[in-house]
Amino acid sequence: MAFTSTAQVSLYLEKYRPQFHFTAAKNWINDPNGLLYYQGTYHLFYQHNPLANQWGHMSWGHAEGRDLIHWKQLPVAIPEADQVMIFSGSIVADPSNLSGLAATTGKTALVAIYTGSFPSSPANPGQTFQAQYLAYSLDQGMTWTKYSHSPILDLHLRDFRDPALSWYGPGKKWVMALVLSDRHLVQFYGSRDLIHWDHLSDFGPAGDTSGVWECPSLVEIPAEASGGKTKWVLFNSAQGGVQYFVGEFDGTRFSSEGPKNEIQRADYGPDFYAAVTYQNLPRGHAPILLGWANNWAYAEDIPTRPWKGMMSMPRELSLKAFGDRWVLMQQPAKSISAQRRSGWVGSNLVVSKNTAIPMRSQQCEIKLTWKPAQGSVSGIGLATGKGHPLEIAFDQPSQTLRISRLGAGEAAFNAHFSRLAQCQVKLPIGDSSLNLDIFFDHSLVEVFAQAGVAVLTMQVFPDPDDQGLDLFSERGANTFTRVQVWPMGSIWTNAK
Ligand code: FRU
Repeated sequence: MAFTSTAQVSLYLEKYRPQFHFTAAKNWINDPNGLLYYQGTYHLFYQHNPLANQWGHMSWGHAEGRDLIHWKQLPVAIPEADQVMIFSGSIVADPSNLSGLAATTGKTALVAIYTGSFPSSPANPGQTFQAQYLAYSLDQGMTWTKYSHSPILDLHLRDFRDPALSWYGPGKKWVMALVLSDRHLVQFYGSRDLIHWDHLSDFGPAGDTSGVWECPSLVEIPAEASGGKTKWVLFNSAQGGVQYFVGEFDGTRFSSEGPKNEIQRADYGPDFYAAVTYQNLPRGHAPILLGWANNWAYAEDIPTRPWKGMMSMPRELSLKAFGDRWVLMQQPAKSISAQRRSGWVGSNLVVSKNTAIPMRSQQCEIKLTWKPAQGSVSGIGLATGKGHPLEIAFDQPSQTLRISRLGAGEAAFNAHFSRLAQCQVKLPIGDSSLNLDIFFDHSLVEVFAQAGVAVLTMQVFPDPDDQGLDLFSERGANTFTRVQVWPMGSIWTNAK
């Protein structure tokens, strides 16, 4: 199915369908996989059930684009076959043919390594094992050949998955990070040909060990204020969300230099998971992180059809020093600003209870700047109307930014959705202004606070008629120094 965004008129116009975040045309998706930039094209592969709108028959779906925002849907890249499901993994380019997979074609092989999940025996189909499999493409990712000598790495374990590949220049080798999920370990392996792998080291347990570990990603990130230097960052998902460690990687071992007894989170909302980074970006390109904007606690029950699951905004990464620690800074990919349509700007708006913004939208970007008044709780309600709004509020006394979808829209589909209806992050801003950059896309809200020092991602399923946007202030008045609202154009050409 080579679906492009104009193929079917009604697709992409359904209730709750995001218009500037990636969703598959139809059916279930979860983790981003094989994020590769190659010859001007960003590839986005993803966990996909090509047959149904729920998890199962895991295969790699595929989309590509040239700006991280507009995507062309492509046929399924690596399908499930012979009872081996295609779980998460990554892709690198092998321009020197170190793998030999391009043989004498003179082409560059793109090499995918993913976790194969297969039944331990025909008699026991419910018990699965996981090992690492390889597939390659000689036509820039369009078609894939499964390597017949897979698995290439097999420890005969039930939980050994999500290989993340990267080229380690100084050692002239590839490195693979993957997890022993239930042991809370990231294992590193090294290889010169992508086929034979040697164990290098283990990292963990560390940080959040409250749930199984999944989807590691190792990336070098520019560290601001350290004269062009970089630090290494290791991400991994634990059922509560995505955490990261900042430190050094010497080609063998990753050592964290972060705070010992504190979890550093890439996102404080309930709906950001399995986030991994792009490979092979050109020199000078900011590292890019992309996550699945959903939560396993209720992912299969969210009320969307014929699709289920979406990707977050691609996020540009940098590091900023705060005292003795490095903090991840995230900004939406710059190209998103091309979706802004002519909007509304207000300045010095004094709000003492509720003030409606004279614009209605569930498909917009909102920038807010204000200096929260002593003792107050202030912010913005989205999707106001008949139903209860989603609230984004700064509690000045506790210096806490909160989002709540409690009472906002559909929630009865799964009890965990209400249980996880509120999220928050401590933002000690003191007397300075607060800056929020909010992206609201029908059923997803992403809030970038203080230039991306904290991000909160939350799904919400409001009545499509509830289009109001309301500034509010409780326990005293607040002056919003600047309010900008842009309706966002759809990235799907058949939609609004
Ligand atoms: C994370 C995950 C991965 C696994 C994939 C299966 O969301 O559980 O660990 O490879 O999803 O779809």
